[in-house]
Amino acid sequence: MSGMEVLVVGSGGREHALAIGLSKSDSVSSVHCSPGNAGTSMVATNHDVPASDTEGIVNLAKDLRVSLVVVGPEAPLVNGLSDRLRQESIPSFGPHSEGAILEGSKTHAKTVMAALGVPTGRFERIDEIDSIGASLESFEPPWVIKRDVLAGGKGVTVTSSRSEAYEALRSGIETDGFVLMEEHLSGEEASVLVIMDESGYVMLPASQDHKRVGNNDQGPNTGGMGAYAPAPVATPSVLARTREEIVEPMHHHLRNSETPYRGCLYVGLMIDEDGAPSVVEFNVRLGDPEAQVTIPLFQTDLGLVLLAAAQGNLADVELSL
Ligand code: AMP
Ligand code: GLY
Repeated sequence: MSGMEVLVVGSGGREHALAIGLSKSDSVSSVHCSPGNAGTSMVATNHDVPASDTEGIVNLAKDLRVSLVVVGPEAPLVNGLSDRLRQESIPSFGPHSEGAILEGSKTHAKTVMAALGVPTGRFERIDEIDSIGASLESFEPPWVIKRDVLAGGKGVTVTSSRSEAYEALRSGIETDGFVLMEEHLSGEEASVLVIMDESGYVMLPASQDHKRVGNNDQGPNTGGMGAYAPAPVATPSVLARTREEIVEPMHHHLRNSETPYRGCLYVGLMIDEDGAPSVVEFNVRLGDPEAQVTIPLFQTDLGLVLLAAAQGNLADVELSL
């Protein structure tokens, strides 16, 4: 097959990396990006429809007669962009809205993990300012407080200061009506991006991003300020456990859900000192900046891999990394 037109949705470094990878794919004749950025304009044609404009993106994909849409960020997925594209018979790399809830709601992700026995930290939902004190007592510091909203990695407070923890809980309840507190996991973090559909899955080499501002990881969390791959902390034995304890059950669950999951499941891991992995978070898309260091490792035509996953034929593609 040759000569696909592909539309990449989004405007970050991840979308630049996707556009570069696709522009180097023999299967792809031209790459479009919406809205794109200065980087994507060097390898693709930028369009001015925002990623949040679902109908605008669907119309753009139809006007351009693209064979594939690759959705970069999570918000359009949560808002149902892939659902709408599939209704129009346009293959989309990225899960439907039902699958995207794994990132859209941390409560949902925790509930799924508990049902499947996937290792992750204990958590509690806190609705009342009056119960903050008791909740702080029931977890050991450092406290981990999370808003259950899409916050680009910035809705989390990790602190050993009781007053800071109290304030994060109080303001979370005031803003959103409730907030989550989670058991603190210690160890080394790594990200494993898993391309999947109902026919199979492929785990890409593990990467690590640099999350905290300042020297010695002392500052607040960011969405990630740079990354490298492969990450040596994810040893063959860690990866084998990750596959068996996390990826296999998640894939089994997602492939059997009402609408199969087609896209990337980002597994944010904490690896403890004994090499046991547990899940810090799931995202429903490639990581940014993890994509920038993972996509260049593909030896296989990226366009073919993403199209196969979007069509549910991933098992037919032999991927070399
Ligand atoms: P999240 O939005 O859930 O991905 O969290 C963002 C970042 O906060 C993670 O990448 C970790 O660095 C940190 N974090 C989140 N949850 C925990 C936890 N339970 N224990 C330790 N650190 C955490
Ligand atoms: N780098 C973290 C993320 O993409 O969520």
